Amino acid sequence: MKLVITGGAGFLGRSVAAAVAARGSISGPDGEPTAVDEIVLFDNQEAGQSASPLISSVVGDITDADAVGSVIDRDDCAVFHLASVVSHGAEQDFDLALRVNLDGGLNVFEACRALRSEPRVVLASSFAAYGGGWPPIEVDDATKLTPQSTYGTTKAILELLINDYSRKGFLDGRTARLPTVIVRPGKPNLAASSWCSSVFREPLAGKQCVVPVPLETRTIVIGARTVVDGLIRLHELGASTLGADRAVLFPGLSVTAAEMVESMKRVGRDRSLGDVRVEVDPQIEAIFNSWPTRLGARRAGELGIQGDIDLDSIALAYIEDAEGRP
Ligand SMILES: NC(=O)c1ccc[n+]([C@@H]2O[C@H](COP(=O)([O-])OP(=O)(O)OC[C@H]3O[C@@H](n4cnc5c(N)ncnc54)[C@H](O)[C@@H]3O)[C@@H](O)[C@H]2O)c1
Repeated sequence: MKLVITGGAGFLGRSVAAAVAARGSISGPDGEPTAVDEIVLFDNQEAGQSASPLISSVVGDITDADAVGSVIDRDDCAVFHLASVVSHGAEQDFDLALRVNLDGGLNVFEACRALRSEPRVVLASSFAAYGGGWPPIEVDDATKLTPQSTYGTTKAILELLINDYSRKGFLDGRTARLPTVIVRPGKPNLAASSWCSSVFREPLAGKQCVVPVPLETRTIVIGARTVVDGLIRLHELGASTLGADRAVLFPGLSVTAAEMVESMKRVGRDRSLGDVRVEVDPQIEAIFNSWPTRLGARRAGELGIQGDIDLDSIALAYIEDAEGRP
């Protein structure tokens, strides 16, 4: 099997690639483990050197249908579609968000449709597909999607398209509707939620961190390892288990910014920690206020997609992954 990961140079793309490369196989349509002989990270950024010979990087733009078709080119392809303009970036550039998220998504789905198989496609959606401003603040799989951002709107559209392409038998899709994933290694990105990672990463490295929302702001987070396990689990589920609605809300912890700071201080108590400063950015605050603050992920539980125990275990896993020590 050839695995194509769009947005493969990104945070989750690299992590999924490393996890699948370490396993060497992933379940195919018959439910049996199938050897993966190639993992392609398709991204408009160079993904850099990988530790696994299975992984290669192809630089290309998701808005270029030919480039997408040139990597989704084998009937035994499976796809993780992760390339996206993220939340704050999409609010800043509406046209780019539509081109990359919608046209790019269609390019991926059409490339899959052109194959003689029904390739499995896992789409990363977001809990930004829900809207705030109306009760209930607690969402579940059945809550109507009324996104209040361009990012969330493009994700909601892709979710519907995945269902319809699957209904037509063009591909075998599944959607992971993800809360904010922490802790992103490296640098902040253009997601409005980027600070949820910075609040651990920067102080633990002795650097200062600015939180752009009031400390009592509540949001929903999930650990990076937990997401990667969940995405692979979702890929491996049989189509009949999912039925007509291919979207699964992933589990998350409902936490405040203050609780994240406290967790960072607990796991980093032996370090010289960087300062945390609050400087409210009204645009980021408004985006957060439009997102749900509690979720019920019953379907994920029934499908064997696990959640995290607590913030500290997420932070400790990050330290282990980023620094190679427990
Ligand atoms: N990380 C989170 O907290 C989170 C939460 C909810 C949903 N998601 C979704 O999960 C997916 C992966 O997230 P991530 O955190 O790894 O994001 P990321 O920003 O690290 O990775 C996205 C990748 O997409 C690539 N990309 C952007 N425009 C492109 C284009 N025109 N052509 C090709 N590649 C392009 C970027 O270069 C980047 O490497 C995204 O779809 C995101 O919307 C992430």
